[in-house]
Amino acid sequence: MTNIHPIHDRIVQRSEREATNGHRAGVVWLTGLSGSGKSTIAAAVERELFSASHFVVLLDGDNVRTGLCGDLGFSLEDRKENIRRIAETAKLFVAAGAQVLCSFVSPTREIRSMAKNIIGADDFYEVFVNTPLEVCEARDVKGLYVKARAGEIKGFTGIDSPYEAPESPFLDLKTADQTVEASAGEVVLAIRDQLALQR
Ligand code: ADX
Repeated sequence: MTNIHPIHDRIVQRSEREATNGHRAGVVWLTGLSGSGKSTIAAAVERELFSASHFVVLLDGDNVRTGLCGDLGFSLEDRKENIRRIAETAKLFVAAGAQVLCSFVSPTREIRSMAKNIIGADDFYEVFVNTPLEVCEARDVKGLYVKARAGEIKGFTGIDSPYEAPESPFLDLKTADQTVEASAGEVVLAIRDQLALQR
């Protein structure tokens, strides 16, 4: 950190970017079990915000675990490093004025609290994609639960690796009995006032 000279008086400020974009920046952090619907819901939210001309960015396993975090696995230590890098990335996008959707299992309170600390509590909106294990396992979209039950995948979240539900999320999204569109609509409604320019 030595020999680093910030040039804060010259760089474009976040507030200037937000004024141009017509909305505030922030991070909507979706946490939940594998197969809970996080990424599908996040993609639908992204589409809706993009259609409203928002500067919106989606970070999820598909674009992060292949590149930025391609060297990491699923030990608790690697998951922590995964989320640390993602949170730092999200923070940079927030400084650039973006509304960032992060869709990650982020299984423990400690891991999510680290993400919140990196991003800053004021810019962090935790959404618990609250889909019961039985429902995720019955869907088994990627066929991973069958493998985890058969012992072919070790340390699978919800089976033999912990998932700690958030205690007081910004939004508790109960997805089991509603469509993706309805869930996405709930998220957009919940963040609309928070991320509006005037509040
Ligand atoms: S996190 O725990 O580090 O936040 P992340 O969201 O990036 O996880 O990746 C989770 C996805 O990786 C799951 O949806 C699943 O497709 C896949 N995966 C592979 N192995 C595991 C595992 N052991 N536990 C959970 N998810 C796994």
